[in-house]
Amino acid sequence: KTKIWKVDKYGDNLYTYPQIKEAAELLKQNEVVAFPTETVYGLGGNALSDEAIEKIFKAKGRPSDNPLIVHISDQQDVQKFVETIPEKAKLLMESFWPGPLTIILQAKPGIISEKTTAGLSTVGIRMPDHPVALSLIKAAGLPIAAPSANLSGKPSPTNFVHTFQDMNGKIAGIVDGGETGVGVESTVIDCTDNIPIILRPGGVTKEEIETVIGPVKIDSQIKEEVENPRSPGMKYKHYAPNVPMVLVDGSPEFLQKIIDEKRQEGKKVGVLTTEERKNIYDADKVLVCGNRNNLSTVAQSLFKTLRSFNQENVDYIVSETFPTEGIGIAIMNRLIKAAGHNVIYEN
Ligand code: TXA
Ligand code: MG
Repeated sequence: KTKIWKVDKYGDNLYTYPQIKEAAELLKQNEVVAFPTETVYGLGGNALSDEAIEKIFKAKGRPSDNPLIVHISDQQDVQKFVETIPEKAKLLMESFWPGPLTIILQAKPGIISEKTTAGLSTVGIRMPDHPVALSLIKAAGLPIAAPSANLSGKPSPTNFVHTFQDMNGKIAGIVDGGETGVGVESTVIDCTDNIPIILRPGGVTKEEIETVIGPVKIDSQIKEEVENPRSPGMKYKHYAPNVPMVLVDGSPEFLQKIIDEKRQEGKKVGVLTTEERKNIYDADKVLVCGNRNNLSTVAQSLFKTLRSFNQENVDYIVSETFPTEGIGIAIMNRLIKAAGHNVIYEN
């Protein structure tokens, strides 16, 4: 049976709380415990232990060739796990940790489990900006590997209920620390080369990173997908609601035209929109995902809104698109995957 511990994230000295100590004890025994971070809930296990990591992959149903991020509570711990810390990586840690930035470095061989790194010579490390996550890692005294706590293919969980829905009965426990904040996962940046490269857009923007270390590259596939996502079909399904979804890039009138076409086919159509436009569509269900004039609020609600459609009686989802700047790049990256690359352009 999956244990549940409720923790007030605003409490003092959380690492001394009995709930945190109990959860940390299970991590030390190589059990899997889900916990909140500032991005999404994570599915935590001892990053040094093959046994713990196998349990994580099993609970998620995740292909084992996809490496996990190692979470730490103290920047000083990085040197235990990596060969060298390049100057740019150090600057990034000092500017953005604790926070939603995962830094990929050359791993010291034989320390972090090969299951965690999926056999790569590199390791992704981050220090989360969440008091519950930090105190749990500190109390366990271990590096904690943690993918997002969703079943493989589903939207990442941003609250206890969504974590419980996916993981109840599959893991030792869940720490309920309320809603997460950022809403999309950490930015993943590979710093093993002189010019760092963003492998996944996330909570820290490319613009913010470049103000600290100068120009960085962005993985060509992300760029291609976000700017020109015209090729449907891909290796793994990601972030997907239970029914098909299309992203429609165009005016509200054009969206309405697409909605009408689908309804004429007899489909019940749900719309993903924002506060600004919630009253202008005629559809079977309209769900609001933040404010278009503040993209951080869209990021915050994105996965929750995608999951909400599963509770509605709709069999097709039409979503608006967002500008691909700042956090908008991460939003569009997740939406394009959720839609299985199904995008329609007005122009
Ligand atoms: O915000 C987050 O990053 C959340 C919370 C729980 O911290 N975690 C998360 O983990 O999103 P996950 O496993 O769902 O995504 C990890 C991403 C994957 O895209 C993986 O391929 C990449 O990080 N990654 C991890 N280690 C890597 C490595 N050594 N080289 C390249 N990519 C790596
Ligand atoms: Mg994930």
